[in-house]
Amino acid sequence: MEKVSISHDKSSPIVVGLDIGTTKICAIVGRRSKDNTVEILGIGKAESAGVTRGVVSNIDKTVQGITQAIEIAASQSNVEIRVVNVGIAGQHIKSLQHRGLITRRDLNREINRKDIEKLIEDMYNLVMPPGEEIIHVLPQEFTVDNEPGIKDPIGMAGVRLEANFHIISGQVTAVKNIVKCVTKANLESHDLILEPLASSEAVLTDEEKEAGVVLVDVGGGTTDLAIFHEGIIRHTAVIPFGGNSVTEDIREGCSVMRNIAEMLKTRFGSALAEENKDNEIVCVPGLRGRESKEISVKNLAYVIQARMEEIIEHVYYEIKTSGYEKKMIGGIV
Ligand SMILES: Nc1ncnc2c1ncn2[C@@H]1O[C@H](COP(=O)(O)OP(=O)(O)OP(=O)(O)O)[C@@H](O)[C@H]1O
Ligand SMILES: [Mg+2]
Repeated sequence: MEKVSISHDKSSPIVVGLDIGTTKICAIVGRRSKDNTVEILGIGKAESAGVTRGVVSNIDKTVQGITQAIEIAASQSNVEIRVVNVGIAGQHIKSLQHRGLITRRDLNREINRKDIEKLIEDMYNLVMPPGEEIIHVLPQEFTVDNEPGIKDPIGMAGVRLEANFHIISGQVTAVKNIVKCVTKANLESHDLILEPLASSEAVLTDEEKEAGVVLVDVGGGTTDLAIFHEGIIRHTAVIPFGGNSVTEDIREGCSVMRNIAEMLKTRFGSALAEENKDNEIVCVPGLRGRESKEISVKNLAYVIQARMEEIIEHVYYEIKTSGYEKKMIGGIV
């Protein structure tokens, strides 16, 4: 089979996604078809050793992981990968609401895409605190001449065009490091996407977003959250705890090595301690010939439950502060 080469052309049907996670780096190659679905051509995974809580902390190790994942995805799909879309996460991500306004002069023509682009551009000029930059400007709803609640104002007539925006910002250094890793892996980053948004695109239906839904992705280093209502993004957050925090707790709580803690969690762990029998015991090998250790499955569950409750409390806090607590008909996904 001949290798497909991706050009820098945005209309290229081949798209590549790159997820630089705390525990693993994933690359995925897809071909976009006319009906806007994506056919998966190949997936590559590699261990991630240079990422802490969703943020690149070691560039070389991260580049290594990216290169590996991309190589696997490239050979599986027979696509020469040059350009990627990269996800971004981490506790440094902040989201805020802002309102923009333009007064239109040319009243003979209807509101068009240019007007909206102008509004969005204005948002990018917002002054950010030092060290922070805007990653996304997402229009939520528009007001045309005092008529609020308009989702798509294109084609309407009006003088005053206002919009509410959901603005996502992140630390300049964190963003720069991701781009640096991608460049060092001989790739070009086409787009930077906030991870909770990318996950929402992937798993939520339009119906759920319309009804009101919370997306929660418990990862290794972070728990990502996105809230939608009436089809509009309302809130996003990245909570700096995830599965790795659970593993760390088990490591400390049960005095075992990290790999044993991870095994205990995935094979014997549960988050509801009361559902475990009192007398169930797992035997884990001791360090270098030392005596093996007995771990109570119920105690293990208590450790996991405590951390999971903490994570869920954070999630609940975010839902509450978003103001959409009572409007989530679609529940939590
Ligand atoms: N069967 C399982 N039971 C419990 N936890 C699991 C299981 N399988 C995987 N995990 C945990 O899920 C976490 C990895 O999740 P994921 O692959 O989504 O993270 P990531 O994308 O690498 O990290 P992040 O998104 O936080 O940067 C690890 O902490 C791992 O221990
Ligand atoms: Mg992840």
